[in-house]
Amino acid sequence: MKRVIQILLVMVGLLASTQLHAIELLPTFGDIDHIHLPALMVQHADGDQSLQLRAQDTTYIDNPQYKEMIIATKDLAQPFYVTIHVRQWKAVEMTETWYDISHTEKRPVRLQRYDSGYLPIEGDNPHLLHIHGNWAAEGVPTVERLTRGIKTIRNSDGARNAHLDAPEVMISLDGVPQENSGRVLGAALCWSGNFEIRVAATDEKGFHFYAGIDPMASEYILSPKQVFTTPHLAYTYSNEGMGGVSRAFHRWARTCGMMHNGNATRSILLNSWEGIYFDITEEKILAMMNDIASFGGELFVMDDGWFGAKYQRNSDNAALGDWVVDTRKLPNGLEALTDAAKDRHIKFGIWIEPESTNTLSELYEKHPDWVLQERGRELKLGRGGTQLVLDMTNPEVQDFVFSIVDNLLTKHPEIVYIKWDANASIQNCGSTYLPRDKQSNLYVDYHLGLIKTLERIRAKYPNVVIQNCASGGGRANYGLMPYFDEFWVSDNNDALQRVYIQWGTSYFFPSNAMAQHIGGSPYLMTGRTTPIKFRCDVAMSGRLGMELQPAHMTDEERLQCTVAFRDYKALRELIQLGNLYRLVSPYNDKCQMSNVKLPETQSVAALMYVNDAKDHAVLFAYGLSSFMKQASRRIRLAGLDPNRTYTLYEKNKQVRWGSLPSGEGWGEVSSALDGKSFTGAYLMSVGLDIPLSTEYNIDYPSRIFELK
Ligand code: DGJ
Repeated sequence: MKRVIQILLVMVGLLASTQLHAIELLPTFGDIDHIHLPALMVQHADGDQSLQLRAQDTTYIDNPQYKEMIIATKDLAQPFYVTIHVRQWKAVEMTETWYDISHTEKRPVRLQRYDSGYLPIEGDNPHLLHIHGNWAAEGVPTVERLTRGIKTIRNSDGARNAHLDAPEVMISLDGVPQENSGRVLGAALCWSGNFEIRVAATDEKGFHFYAGIDPMASEYILSPKQVFTTPHLAYTYSNEGMGGVSRAFHRWARTCGMMHNGNATRSILLNSWEGIYFDITEEKILAMMNDIASFGGELFVMDDGWFGAKYQRNSDNAALGDWVVDTRKLPNGLEALTDAAKDRHIKFGIWIEPESTNTLSELYEKHPDWVLQERGRELKLGRGGTQLVLDMTNPEVQDFVFSIVDNLLTKHPEIVYIKWDANASIQNCGSTYLPRDKQSNLYVDYHLGLIKTLERIRAKYPNVVIQNCASGGGRANYGLMPYFDEFWVSDNNDALQRVYIQWGTSYFFPSNAMAQHIGGSPYLMTGRTTPIKFRCDVAMSGRLGMELQPAHMTDEERLQCTVAFRDYKALRELIQLGNLYRLVSPYNDKCQMSNVKLPETQSVAALMYVNDAKDHAVLFAYGLSSFMKQASRRIRLAGLDPNRTYTLYEKNKQVRWGSLPSGEGWGEVSSALDGKSFTGAYLMSVGLDIPLSTEYNIDYPSRIFELK
C-alpha cells in the first residue's frame, strides 16, 4: 500500500503541493488506530466487522482526457474486494476518486459506511467554507475555523440535496479563505441523495476529510458478486484562493461534469411560471410567445399547468403523472404551440415533474404500488397535501419515467428544452419493490434508478437541453449535472437577493449552468421594487431568461429588455464560457448602515468574466444600498493582462425618455467611463470608480462594461 501512495503522490501533483501526508487511501474499520475514523466499514456475512485491504494489482489508463490509476485490493481474511480509482483530468485541475466494492461471501454483506474519498489535510489554520440555504434563499456561503472534534455537513432530504446543506466544500489551509490568493482545496461529492461530509481533528496531527453517502438509514445490503460503485468525489487545489478553485470547477464542469454540451452557449428564454402560474390558456401562451420574440428572445418554456385529463392541474394538488395535454386549456394541443413558436422564429420548451404523482391522479389510481410507502403506515403527503414520490428503484417506474420524455419528444420533435422539476423530499422511506431485507438500500437505489433512467434518456436524446430544477436550486449538484445542461438557481427572482444567491452558487457552478431570470417588480415574494436595468444586469451575469408576465411591463421595461437581450447576445460567449473573477463580495462589504452615520461609500458587489486570451472581458457592478452624494466605490479588477490596454464600452445602458439630442423619445444614457481606456495593470492595482447611482436612479443602480 505504501508504494501505491507514493505513486499517487507523483501522479496527483496536488497532493504533494498541499502538503497532504497520506496515511491510507482508504482507511477501513479494522485497519486504523483508535484515533482515526473509517471511510469504509462493513459487516461481513459471518458477522465479522474487520476489514484489512491490501493492494493486489495496480493498472493505469492514459488517454487524451485523463490518467487513471486503478488499485485492486482484497481483504486479508475474507473474499471482499475494493477497487480504488483515482482519475486525474489532463486539461483541468481536477482529481476524482471512487471505489468499486464487491465480495463473494456466502450471504450479503452490510456496508455500514462507504465514503467516496478520504484526504488527510495539514494546514496552519484551516477554515471550511460550505454552501447552504433554503427554498428561495439558496447559495449562502459560511466560513468557519476548523477546530478539534468533528465537523459534519449532511443532507437528509432523500431526493434532493442542495437546499439546506450542499455537498460541496472548500478548505483554506491558511486561515479565512481569500478570493484571489492562498492555498485552498475544493471538493464536491457527485451525488444527489443523502450525503455526509466530515472533517475530523481527533488528534494533534492534522485534519482528515471524508465525503460520501450518508449511512443513516442506508446500511447498504450488498449481495455476493454485486458491485457497488460509490459516487465520485471530485477535488481540486489552488494557490489562487477560492477564485482559483471556482475556476477549476467551472472548467471541469464544462469539460465533463455536466451534460456533454456544457461548453455550448444557451438561449435567452421566457418561462411561463411567474407570469401565469397554472392559468395556462392557448391565448396567453401565444401572447407570451409574441412578447419574448419581440424582445429578441429565442425560446419560450411552458411551465406547470398544461396537463391532466380526469384531474385538472389548476393547483399543485392534482394530475402529476397524467402527462396528457389538458385540451380544456389547450384545445389545439401542443402542435398549435410548437407551430406558433416556429412562426415566431423561437424555440419551444416544456415543464415536467416525472418522479412524482398526486393522490388525485389517474396514475396513482392505477398504480398505488408505484409510490414510495412504508408498509402498513399512513402516507405522508407533500406539496399540495397530495404529492407522493414514485419508487425509482422499480424498473417499471423507471420505464414509465423514460416514457414521459420519450412520448413527448417522439410526438413533438420540435421540443428542444425540458424543465425537469422535483418538488418533493422522500417522506415515506419504504419500497414495495425492494425486498424486506433490502429496505435500507432505498435512499441509494432511488438515485441509481434515477440515474439509469436519465442515462437512457440521454442516450436517445443527447441534444435536447434539460434544466435541472427542484423547487429552485434543490438539485444543484454534480451527481445529476452530467445529465443536465443547466439548473434553476432559485425560485426567488428578487434581483437584490439574487445577487447573493448567484454569488454563493458561483463558488462551484459555471455561469452557463446557472439559469437567471428577470423577475417582475414589485416582486411577488418580497414586495421589493427594483429598476428594470438592475433586474436585467443581475440576470445577465449567467444564463439569461425572464420569469414574469410581459403583458404587465411598461414601455420602459420592454425597451430595456430589448437592449439587454441585444447586448447579451454579443457578450453571451464571454459571460457563459469565460473565466469568473469575483471582485467585491456582497457578503463582506464593509459599508453597512451603522447607527452613527451613513456609510461614506456605496455598498456594492462586482464580478467579471475574462476570456482565455485575456483580450476580452466583461464587468458587472451592482449597488446594493446607495445614498445621495455618497462616494462611488473603487473596484479593482482581476484576471487581465497587465501589459494590455483595455477600452471600456458600457452595455445595457439605461434607457431614458428625453435623452435623445432632440429632447424627445427613448435613448440610451452612457456613464462617464464609456469609451475610456486603461492598462490592465492600472485596472488591477488602482481600479475603477464605477459611477453607479445617478440622480434619477439612486436605488439599486448597476453597470455593465465590456473591456476590449
Ligand atoms: C417549482 C419550480 O422551482 C418553479 O420554477 C415552478 O416550475 C414550479 N415548481 C411549478 O410547479
